[in-house]
Amino acid sequence: MAERAVLAYSGGLDTSVAVKWIKEKYGYDVVTFTVDIGNVPNLEAIRQKALDAGAVDAVVADAREQFITDFVYPSLKADAIYEGEYSLATAIGRPLIAQLLVKVAREKGAVAVSHGCTGKGNDQVRLDVGIGTLGPDLKIIAPAREWGMTREELIQYAEQHSIPISITRKSPYSIDENLWGRSIETGVLEDPWVEPPSDVYVWTCDPAAAPEEPQYIEVEFEEGIPVALDGVSLGTVQLIEMLHAAAGRHGVGRVDHIENRLVGIKSREIYEAPAATVLLKAHIALQNLVLTKDQLRFKALVATHYADLIYNGLWFGGLRHNLAAYVDDTQKYVTGTVRLKLHKGTCSVVGRKSPYSLYDLSLATYDKGDAFDQSDSPGFIRLWGLPSRLQARQQRGTIGSG
Ligand code: ARG
Repeated sequence: MAERAVLAYSGGLDTSVAVKWIKEKYGYDVVTFTVDIGNVPNLEAIRQKALDAGAVDAVVADAREQFITDFVYPSLKADAIYEGEYSLATAIGRPLIAQLLVKVAREKGAVAVSHGCTGKGNDQVRLDVGIGTLGPDLKIIAPAREWGMTREELIQYAEQHSIPISITRKSPYSIDENLWGRSIETGVLEDPWVEPPSDVYVWTCDPAAAPEEPQYIEVEFEEGIPVALDGVSLGTVQLIEMLHAAAGRHGVGRVDHIENRLVGIKSREIYEAPAATVLLKAHIALQNLVLTKDQLRFKALVATHYADLIYNGLWFGGLRHNLAAYVDDTQKYVTGTVRLKLHKGTCSVVGRKSPYSLYDLSLATYDKGDAFDQSDSPGFIRLWGLPSRLQARQQRGTIGSG
């Protein structure tokens, strides 16, 4: 019996050709693996397609729940946003795919795993590093990085090898999507001066055409995790899908960003992340109510670092693990409700409450009931300003024109 490779299979032209190409080039029998993390594939149809393309076995899985629980929630709790713009949907999907590829390889006795990434992007890094960490003995094959075939040549290859492919009108964009967001690249978007044509957006309506009436939505969190919308407890997938629909209807969650890839390239990225935009905003707002200033400052530093680790494919590394433990510890009191207003492409926080709130009205108020003793302030300010006064006395030159 020939040795086996497990191929991450989408059902598209590239991975269908890869089934035969791997057999020809490396001699491996190919077992395909297709996973649903909210990219809504028709798993049964894809399974059949894989077998028709020559796979000896075709495994499919619905991992939406696991995706949210083990990957989306940890990054939400960390407030992981890359370069201030990208909520990392594609990037957090990759370690899960790597993990499942290794698992299927073990179950099927494979010696190699394979994916359809090219040699220019971040995704190859995330998958290769993930696979190399979890299954260091497995050989990694990335056909699209190796074969150098154009789309025409791929179609020709498929015809020559009687691989049934449905030639659909090719989308002008390269698209990746899952429950946390949709990433769109290439085509006219490669000119950073060109405004994204309207057909780029599928999940969010044009803010100009969004309802005139705003929609208010209440998101309830328990220890940093969203558990209910408008007072109704919901399951993980359902909660994200409902937010997706509401925010999408109001045109919330569009991003147009020049991004710095790990491989050194700057690329123009469009994202649609309606649910992620609302949840990240809401989470940060609730945290602001329950963590101290010092905790917030430090956590923001960790958030940037955490986002870089996810983006750069180091999910399974020790540092991400360490930081996840820190983040979890910060979430103990991140329980409460945030009220948001969705309107014409904007999502604004308009209210927040928590049983652990550190906001004390009797200290903050300028009205009756003020419990803040203003006579404490002059002494505090005298000590706070002491270093400045000392410096001014001894080093006139260091304090500018004063
Ligand atoms: N630039 C984003 C990232 O690196 C999105 C990648 C999209 N991938 C794709 N195959 N279209 O995470």
